[in-house]
Amino acid sequence: MKTMKLVFLLFFFDVTLSVKHSLKFFFTVSSGVKHIPDFVGVALIDEVPVGRCDSIGEKAEFTQDWMKKLKEDDPQHLDWYTQESLFVHNKYNAAIDMMKNQLNQTGGVHILQRMNGCEWDDETGEINRFAQFGYDGEDFIAFDLKTLTWIAQKPEALIIKQQWDRNRPKNDYRKSFLTQRCPEFLKTYLDLGKNFLLRTDLPSVSLLQKIPSSPVRCFATGFYPDRVMMFWRKDGEELHEDVELGEILPNHDGSFQMSVDLNLSSVTPEDWRRYECVFQLSGVKDDIITKLDKAVIKTHWVPPSEFPAGPVIGGVVGLLLLLAVCITGVFIWRRRNNGVTTSGEK
Ligand SMILES: *[C@@H]1O[C@H](CO)[C@@H](O)[C@H](O)[C@H]1NC(C)=O
Ligand SMILES: *[C@@H]1O[C@H](CO)[C@@H](O)[C@H](O)[C@H]1NC(C)=O
Repeated sequence: MKTMKLVFLLFFFDVTLSVKHSLKFFFTVSSGVKHIPDFVGVALIDEVPVGRCDSIGEKAEFTQDWMKKLKEDDPQHLDWYTQESLFVHNKYNAAIDMMKNQLNQTGGVHILQRMNGCEWDDETGEINRFAQFGYDGEDFIAFDLKTLTWIAQKPEALIIKQQWDRNRPKNDYRKSFLTQRCPEFLKTYLDLGKNFLLRTDLPSVSLLQKIPSSPVRCFATGFYPDRVMMFWRKDGEELHEDVELGEILPNHDGSFQMSVDLNLSSVTPEDWRRYECVFQLSGVKDDIITKLDKAVIKTHWVPPSEFPAGPVIGGVVGLLLLLAVCITGVFIWRRRNNGVTTSGEK
């Protein structure tokens, strides 16, 4: 394949310096799934996994080298996570049994997930907190920090809501954890990992297309952090129609990928040059602009006359497309926003 110059660093835009950092804890308890631990807890800072605990190892471990310093400085910190994880494991095993009972689910695979944590805006100092549960992949019940009660998001969650509402000491503890300790932990971890977490990595951007009639995908991979904007532009104007924006997905190496598709079925070939794909990374003033150009599109579609040179290219591009859809996310249920339980404070 010929090398192609498809990245132009041309434009400037205003940089907003305010950055939100988050510390999130995911706990997943499953029943009926063979060959995987029935309990996995993961801690993430700015969506980067930094620690984990599961029912096989039964000991919390930091998964980033820069976190391991904390193990020496404050060994009890990790012990606290281990104890908390074991407690949560037992408690949620019981909750899953109760749910199965209530919903008359005798067998099959069932999954209870909790996400809690806090988010801190390093510019305004504002802190958001959240705690919520999913059951079998759907929102189930969420904690309201103002009233210290639970919001049932499914009728089946009502019984659990009533039980948990009565447990006032636990709800107080939950609030104090989310309000005080979580932001403290977050700031400590951010300081330890600042060289890693506060870096910026630019992606490689390519244009992909399956067959000539499919949308053209602008695919960016390898960027960090995940605060990005991606869109298509026509004559310098952002397009909203015929555009499909994908989700930001994690890569195995801790970087991220994202894509935005453009449906060109009603665009004449002469008009193609009026389009360009724009990638913006927060904190980086140069956009990455990729002009729509047939010559730079990678495709595994081969015009019949060009056989048999095609299959090799096809293989490579096929792999690229496969990579594009390969999701490394560990979570079946995951809320990206902070949902109903968020409450702000200075
Ligand atoms: C639960 O299953 C039993 C036996 O199949 C059935 O008799 C009962 O009506 C079911 N209850 C609910 C709430 O679905
Ligand atoms: C692209 O747009 C055309 C009409 O403008 C539509 O018929 C077609 O289904 C669209 N393709 C995709 C993949 O959305």
